[in-house]
Amino acid sequence: MKEDQDIQIDSMGDWKRTHDCGSLRSDNVDQEVVLMGWVNSRRDLGNLIFIDLRDREGVTQIVFDPQVDKESHERAHILRNEWVIAVKCTVVPRLKGQENFTLPTGSIELKVRGLKILNRTETPPFQVDGAVDASETLRLKYRYLELRRPQVLSAFRKRHLIASCIREYLDNKGFIEVETPFLTKSTPEGARDYLVPSRVNRGMCYALPQSPQLFKQLLMIAGFDRYYQIVRCFRDEDLRADRQPEFTQVDLEMAFVDEEDVMGVFEEMMRGLFRKMQEFDMASPIPRLEYHEAMDRFGTDRPDIRFAMELKDLTDIAGRSDFRVFKGVFEEGGVVKAITVKDGAASFSRKVLDELSGLAFQYGAKGLAWIKVNKNGWQSSLNKFFRDEEKTAVNEKVKAAPGDLILIVAHEHKIANEALGKLRLEVARRLDLIPKNSYEFVWITRFPLLEYSETEGRFEAVHHPFTAPLEEDLTLLDDHPERVRSKAYDLVLNGAEIGGGSVRIHNLATQQKVFRALGISDQEAQMKFGFFLEALKYGAPPHGGIALGFDRLVAIMTGVKSIREVIAFPKTTSAACLLTDAPSRADEAQLKELGLRFDLEQ
Ligand code: AMO
Repeated sequence: MKEDQDIQIDSMGDWKRTHDCGSLRSDNVDQEVVLMGWVNSRRDLGNLIFIDLRDREGVTQIVFDPQVDKESHERAHILRNEWVIAVKCTVVPRLKGQENFTLPTGSIELKVRGLKILNRTETPPFQVDGAVDASETLRLKYRYLELRRPQVLSAFRKRHLIASCIREYLDNKGFIEVETPFLTKSTPEGARDYLVPSRVNRGMCYALPQSPQLFKQLLMIAGFDRYYQIVRCFRDEDLRADRQPEFTQVDLEMAFVDEEDVMGVFEEMMRGLFRKMQEFDMASPIPRLEYHEAMDRFGTDRPDIRFAMELKDLTDIAGRSDFRVFKGVFEEGGVVKAITVKDGAASFSRKVLDELSGLAFQYGAKGLAWIKVNKNGWQSSLNKFFRDEEKTAVNEKVKAAPGDLILIVAHEHKIANEALGKLRLEVARRLDLIPKNSYEFVWITRFPLLEYSETEGRFEAVHHPFTAPLEEDLTLLDDHPERVRSKAYDLVLNGAEIGGGSVRIHNLATQQKVFRALGISDQEAQMKFGFFLEALKYGAPPHGGIALGFDRLVAIMTGVKSIREVIAFPKTTSAACLLTDAPSRADEAQLKELGLRFDLEQ
């Protein structure tokens, strides 16, 4: 191969693309065309050189034949994968038996009459045209190369179409898109803020918005009536497969509405979207579960209802048995809960049950009891502690038949539910009980307004502090804040929380009351949200809204495991961008200008 510096790079000159690499068919035979793109793969047979030319739309086979154009053929020997070229060609039919029926362009090929080398490339760190072979670190560092892969690109096209579909629906429903500030004040959504120091106002910081929550409420006070925005949100929190430090919401807000109105619009939007994009007809209406029922039946507020295996309460029966652990939990006001794994007795060996016990322990439970139900009775360490009528009562309660396996957790209510809820998912995964290509939506409603945080030693908002309490529970706010239910709703799809919202407090006195219940003093409220409390004094209409986790939705709709795959330039789980090397050390001069000095020793 020639030395790099000897290779002549051409300009496009007056060449114009006539077609993309995915569109030529038999109908185009004999046409003169110009294509531009990347060398996807090459086969140099000496007298003939075949190249698959790729662009966004597909791949077309081009042939360099010295009989057709000697000069292009000569130059084509140096081409390598991922070089950028332009070719002037004639479209010819492929010979019988040489068609490639897996390619839409596979019935033709192009005879090259002119070649321009528009750019060469270093040897790519991994093959673009290949299976996912390289490590994720490498793929993220060279993300632009990974994005060249057709299957990766197709997720972004879908993302775009989903956004267009949502925009079209909301536009037709009278929503107007309004942009809200990124350099702003803290909006409490439960995560840490990303702070941006101000140069002009030394010693002061902006916070990047965790959501546009307060601005959208201000737009309702302003009389905008129906707002939406496809907007980036920033949260400094522990990352997982479905969490990124910056992510996108479809955020909306409506005036003069109650829960039904917001959920109705959202549901209609999702129904249209799934019909158009997935050819899937959602259940109508989407089923609903109140928070407590979801926790009791599934052990989580984002239940995956694609399969059953619901949690059953055995407290009454098990608490009266002779088993000391169950009795103890019962006497302390805890619960004994169980799931039944249909035909699970044979599929779970002692070793697997030990693994599940280990998991239950990790999930916070003290242990896991199990019963294999046989024709002749129970095979279980609990056998001797239960009388026959109690065994029958248990079997009936959990609908267990011979061959089934019962898994039991006993603990304080919340921990028992949560641990068993996670085991339910784990068992379903292991037994492959979760149907693929199915979309099961469920609304979770009537969340508690507040939840006591042991670490903070005070109540915290379950959603955010602007969520309206149910009117009938308002009187409980002073003495039993934990019993107040809210007008909040989450939309859950296949066990993932894809959206959440609420009707808001639009009355100053109630907002102040909720702040107090949250242990936020009047002074602190004034300092943090004074502007908003002020706005509530000027004719705030009743209003409510919701935000959709757009990345999560797109990930589910494209069938990928992590939202990283549908974000063009995502961050790692340690919030780093491997492509740009962000975050990075700030320049001394910049820090000085901002009046900042890092004390890195601490
Ligand atoms: P919430 O905090 O529930 O509500 O966020 C709405 C939806 O955004 C998604 N989401 C995330 N997606 C990716 N990475 C993250 N770090 C992340 N955090 C949240 C979830 C979630 O359901 N202002 C309120 C909405 C409202 O009340 O109208 C809010 O932001 O899918």
